[in-house]
Parts: sequence; structure tokens; C-alpha cells
Amino acid sequence: MKRVVLGVAGASGAAIAMRIGELLCGLPDVELHLVVSEAGKRTLAHEIGPDALDKLAKFARHHYPANDIGVTIASGSFKTAGMIVAPCSMRSLAAIATGLSDNLLTRAADVHLKERRKLILLARETPLHLGHLRNMVSVTEMGATIMPPVPAFYRRPKTIADIVTHIAARAIDQLDLRQAPLAVEWDGNA
Ligand SMILES: Cc1cc2nc3c(=O)[nH]c(=O)nc-3n(C[C@H](O)[C@H](O)[C@H](O)COP(=O)(O)O)c2cc1C
Repeated sequence: MKRVVLGVAGASGAAIAMRIGELLCGLPDVELHLVVSEAGKRTLAHEIGPDALDKLAKFARHHYPANDIGVTIASGSFKTAGMIVAPCSMRSLAAIATGLSDNLLTRAADVHLKERRKLILLARETPLHLGHLRNMVSVTEMGATIMPPVPAFYRRPKTIADIVTHIAARAIDQLDLRQAPLAVEWDGNA
């Protein structure tokens, strides 16, 4: 069983978190460990609806409160296949870049960095100031992957769901959980 941690911070893009949760839940050999920041709860409710957190939590094997820094995913001894933070706010990015570990989401991310495991950050803000960019450089130097949730227009998406699914699948594919990618591969025919 491969354990994957999904952190949901309070940036725009709650639908991406929901789709990542759904896709991971559908993988037979994957166990989802979920942590949602306080601001993440708010953006989930604002962008999807009041029952969004409950729906997302149903995809997870474990859903931890963001203030509980004593749970399994707060320790490097708890083996995982990686962590995705989707969406990742500039506040959580800054906390991760500086090793602040001020809540369970940023602590779990810190654990992934120190254990040299995969950490995929779907960092979302626009426009970006120099501090945001510097934090992105810092986490990249420490081994994380910055993967802004931007649409792949060359795919000619027809719906927002198409865009969200492609971003979610590409983020999961970064973890190399399976041989076949979840995202549809480009066939080279432009
Ligand atoms: C509706 C809404 C949308 C937001 N979108 C973003 C965003 O796209 N990027 C960002 O960095 N912060 C965004 N914020 C602000 C963050 O939620 C805020 O900085 C918060 O402190 C982040 O905390 P967290 O990193 O613990 O989740 C948004 C807030 C709200 C209420």
C-alpha cells in the first residue's frame, strides 16, 4: 500500500484538491492521508459548498486536524510515497520554504523535504512578487517541485472539469505511483 499525503491550503483551486482526492481514492493500492488548513476549509466551502470538506474527507483513509502535530504524518518514521499540496497558498509556501512547521500541513511538508521524499506544491497566486518567487526557488533547491495549477490549453479543454482533471492527474503522475500515467499523454500531433 502506498501512502500519499494531500495537503489543502487556502488558495484558490479547491476543485483541484477534490479531484486529486477522488483520483487517488480510485487507485487500488493507494491510501490517502488528508490535512486541510483552516483557510483551506474556508476556500473549499466558498468555492464548492458547505459540504465540500466532508466530501473530500470521504476520499481519505485518514483526515487529520491541521492543529494536531502529533499524528503519524508529522513524523519521518511514517513512510509515504510523497505529498501533494493542492492548492498551495503563498503563506504555506513561505512556511515550507523557511521550515516553519507551524501546523500539520507545513510540518508534513517539512518531513517530506527532510526525508528527501517527493513534495509537489501546486502554488497558486497571481501576480507574484519577488518574495513568492524566492520562496519557490528555496523549496526547489530543497527538492520540492513547484507545479502551478495552470491550464494546458494545447489540450483544447471543453469544460472546467477537463482543465481540473488534467491538472490533478499531472500532479499525481509526479509521484510515479503507477507505470501508466493518469493524465492522457500527448501524442505529438499538434
Ligand atoms: C476565497 C479566498 C481565496 C484565496 N486565494 C488565495 C490564493 O489563490 N493564493 C494565496 O496565496 N492565498 C489566497 N487566499 C489567502 C489565504 O487563504 C491566506 O493567506 C491564508 O492565511 C492561507 O493560510 P494557509 O496557508 O494556512 O492555508 C485566499 C483566501 C480566500 C478567502
